[in-house]
Amino acid sequence: MEIITVKEEMCKWAKQAQESGKSVGFVPTMGFLHQGHLSLVHAAKQANDHVVMSIFVNPLQFGRGEDYITYPRDEQRDKKLAEEAGVDILFMPNVDEMYQKKQSIKLMVTEKVDKLCGIKRPGHFDGVVTVLSKFFHLIMPNRAYFGIKDAQQYAIVSA
Ligand code: PAF
Repeated sequence: MEIITVKEEMCKWAKQAQESGKSVGFVPTMGFLHQGHLSLVHAAKQANDHVVMSIFVNPLQFGRGEDYITYPRDEQRDKKLAEEAGVDILFMPNVDEMYQKKQSIKLMVTEKVDKLCGIKRPGHFDGVVTVLSKFFHLIMPNRAYFGIKDAQQYAIVSA
């Protein structure tokens, strides 16, 4: 398993995969991996030549007073689990790498946010789709894999 932390390198790897006609399955996560994530890796491995997993705790999807700082993190354990599951590329950028000093562009979700989590966490799904859009541009996956436990997120990202 290769670990990439720099966007430019991720992009370079993705271009090479694309040029060589290899399919890429992408599993975006915020780390602290569990069986659910690993089952997504399993599904991605079955349908693609390569599997890329991202681990990035995305500050943009946490509101004020939410648990960004205390969100559980265990990089060493995550690396071990990802490698054992057969991830080819683990993309682990830090916040400065993912976002410019001043966030100047943000996507906005306009449907399906008027219920459930969307009401209690204003802006949360805007942060989710913004980071996913950045990942999709960098990684250019053929397929992306999301857990269905977070049903509202699933409905929004698959729309
Ligand atoms: O479901 C998550 O862990 C996150 O919302 C995601 C999709 C990785 C985006 O940060």
